[in-house]
Amino acid sequence: MTKTLLLLPGDGIGPEVTAQSRRLVGWLNANAGLDVSVCEARFGGAAIDADGVPLTPETLALAKASDAVLMGAVGGPQWAKQSYDKRPEAGLLALRAGMEVFANLRPALCFAALADASSLKREFVEGLDIMFVRELTGGVYFGEPRGISDLGNGERRGVNTQVYTSSEIRRVARVAFELAAKRTGRVCSAEKSNVMESGLLWREEVQALRDAEYPHIDLSHMLADNTAMQLVKYPKQFDVILTDNLFGDILSDEAAMLTGSLGMLPSAALGVKGMPGLYEPIHGSAPDIAGKGLANPCASILSLALALRYSLDRGDLADRVEKAVATALDRGARTGDIGGTLGTVAMGDAVLAALAG
Ligand code: NAD
Ligand code: IPM
Ligand code: MN
Repeated sequence: MTKTLLLLPGDGIGPEVTAQSRRLVGWLNANAGLDVSVCEARFGGAAIDADGVPLTPETLALAKASDAVLMGAVGGPQWAKQSYDKRPEAGLLALRAGMEVFANLRPALCFAALADASSLKREFVEGLDIMFVRELTGGVYFGEPRGISDLGNGERRGVNTQVYTSSEIRRVARVAFELAAKRTGRVCSAEKSNVMESGLLWREEVQALRDAEYPHIDLSHMLADNTAMQLVKYPKQFDVILTDNLFGDILSDEAAMLTGSLGMLPSAALGVKGMPGLYEPIHGSAPDIAGKGLANPCASILSLALALRYSLDRGDLADRVEKAVATALDRGARTGDIGGTLGTVAMGDAVLAALAG
């Protein structure tokens, strides 16, 4: 049966990289037995300009009715002066919350050809394969109260609140344990239980779930600041890293550099089984290179691969797309961020050529 994929190209380099993934879907439909119909909607700053809001109710409904959603990126300096609820980023948070995709898988995989593109020495990153499981619909991104208030005398107060409930922690921990069981069985949970009650609850709930239901999982706990340091010191010590919304955002960008570039890292945001997943590169709209045709499309293409695996029942084609990216890199295809000279479209060409044989 035909599956549906909603593209939300968004802002900056979002449309540029998403266009390459769209080409791949076209090729897979024509040549590899994929049966996916693609539609597109405005999102982020592009939707603010046209519709007044970053995510219209119609687009959210379309997302929820699709089998998978592939997002490009949102944001840019032209919308950075708006109040928070009217910013492109607020649309992304609303989309994640509306789709209830609470578990964000961010694989940090070092392709063999890119072992020298990392800022770490080859021996530290060669063969690196870390899976971040980032909680995505809770924590300080969503906690109340929040806001900026005027205290008078020229003094203002900015407030955000870190909140987690035990069920929010357990449902994302379960995802991490299930994934780890299919890998090396090791999970490292990162929080700040030394200074935050929500961090202490996180540690206790993760441990309790492991003891009750996943005794075969080798669970360790690490303070998030130490995790940031250990990621650079000896990244191969990690397999699955389970962490909250904010720490997961920061640690996954850090890990991107271990693999060569932010332009290489995809993500899959998953919720309840049977509901659509949200797929997006972990990078942003890259205003510094937007509109120049220079962006690396690999993070978007690899996000499409995750959509094929987790939402479109075509794990076989996900493997093929990932292999095609590896082959294109082996053949020397490189955008500027990974030390080459190819533009976005030429990099897409290289992946398509590798896919075709
Ligand atoms: P960014 O990820 O957009 O860019 C950081 C750096 O990485 C820049 O130098 C950029 O050129 C480079 N880069 C990122 N993606 C690349 C790619 N595919 N190929 C080559 N180089 C790439 O982060 P930023 O500059 O801090 O944020 C810019 C805007 O993007 C902000 O408005 C921010 O809120 C937004 N943002 C959105 C998302 C998202 O949509 N998921 C993620 C992060 C940031
Ligand atoms: C990401 C981004 C987003 C986040 C922003 C744009 C809301 O940085 O997807 O990593 O912080 O989650
Ligand atoms: Mn981020």
